[in-house]
Amino acid sequence: MVPSLFLLLLVAGAAAQGHDDAVARRTMEEFAGFPASDDGEGDRRAYALRVDSEGLQRQIDELASFSDSPAPSVTRVLYSDKDVQARRYIKGIMKELGLAVREDAVGNIFGRWVGHEAELGAVATGSHVDAIPFSGKYDGVVGVLGALEAISVLKRSGFQPKRSLEVIMFTSEEPTRFGISCLGSRLMAGSEELAQSLKRTVDNQNLSFVDAADSAGYKIHPEDLHDVFLNQDTYFAFVELHIEQGPILEKEGIPIGIVTAIAAPASIKVEFEGNGGHAGAVLMPARNDAGLAAAELALAVEKHVLDSGSIDTVGTVGILQLHPGAINSIPSKSHLEIDVRDIDEKRRNDVIEKVHQSAVEISKIRRVELSEFKIINQDPPALSDKAVINAMEFAAKQLGLQYQLMISRAYHDSLFMARISPMGMIFIPCYKGYSHKPEEYASPEDMANGVKVLALTMAKLSLE
Ligand code: GLV
Ligand code: MN
Ligand code: MN
Repeated sequence: MVPSLFLLLLVAGAAAQGHDDAVARRTMEEFAGFPASDDGEGDRRAYALRVDSEGLQRQIDELASFSDSPAPSVTRVLYSDKDVQARRYIKGIMKELGLAVREDAVGNIFGRWVGHEAELGAVATGSHVDAIPFSGKYDGVVGVLGALEAISVLKRSGFQPKRSLEVIMFTSEEPTRFGISCLGSRLMAGSEELAQSLKRTVDNQNLSFVDAADSAGYKIHPEDLHDVFLNQDTYFAFVELHIEQGPILEKEGIPIGIVTAIAAPASIKVEFEGNGGHAGAVLMPARNDAGLAAAELALAVEKHVLDSGSIDTVGTVGILQLHPGAINSIPSKSHLEIDVRDIDEKRRNDVIEKVHQSAVEISKIRRVELSEFKIINQDPPALSDKAVINAMEFAAKQLGLQYQLMISRAYHDSLFMARISPMGMIFIPCYKGYSHKPEEYASPEDMANGVKVLALTMAKLSLE
């Protein structure tokens, strides 16, 4: 137990930078519940508490090299060869850190540092390393490699966790391959609906989820999917470190965001079918063009979102495909995927209802069939837990780092972890708020701040 006191003392010492050491020591003692003392080895330990920013950046760059698109963009899709290489890389670091590594049936990867009261609920952290096509190298990755660096910081300091600490690399936070966001965490949180649908899910090449998993080394028997579900008492707390993916922190010059709520996302698949035909031969009055129906619906999405009257309502048609996709052929089929989000669940659901009405009306007016209008997911928002927020605020204050309470407009695995654990998120600034594109960037200094806040938050929660 004694080393943990030194950690607390030294984090305070290293962080206090110009702050009153005595105040930091007192706060640390209150937090630890017993007196802190120094054995004269402070300098060595303070050194050990420093984040290895160069090492973290090197790992981020190495991980980014596992990509199916050229640098600086990153494309790493679930169960692809690059995803498998990334998984091997993460497990390697976990093992180097001496963590006990396990994987579940769908490839969520867990690295556990067993605490001295191992029977208690663990304190978990983590994020994802899958990357949407042509995106950047920080989304999710900072929350995995940064979490492993936070563990490393705590280990170097001599800290001994009471509750076990665990880093999770979640499978497929991004919906790229199977259209299901937060696949790994959604399943961990006990989604029976997902466990059932995964048995039938296929990608756009008609390859089944089960076969894709098999190609990545995960042999899934349908009953195994239930083994992914976690109990409500598995975790005492879950904290995710992530780039903000928005411009606020950078613009305000604030190094840390503490997330109080995650906006509610929904995704919808729509298909229209018409007769198609020759682009020269079929006269305009005779057409029922599935492509134009899709175009009209895309504009209707924008209209309904803007009509909500709130800046917090957003809608995106990120996929729009036409069949057969030839310049001289009238589209006979169109496929749209629509993403609608809001911090207000009812307002978002009202938009979805209006989009549905528009799809029905457009299909009538344009004499095309609305062959599919499927709500893939319609997740409720999640609130961060008060005690986890307190721990994150405590850590930021202790480190002398200004922070801002904020909501997350992007979704995260935390949205689902909140169903089975008290949850919180730490944001760090990113360049111009860019994300999901190659220009995504977070500075080593901002990442180091995030890692320190995460390390101290986990240390505090571990001792509770
Ligand atoms: C996650 O990547 C999101 O789309 O919010
Ligand atoms: Mn993302
Ligand atoms: Mn992410």
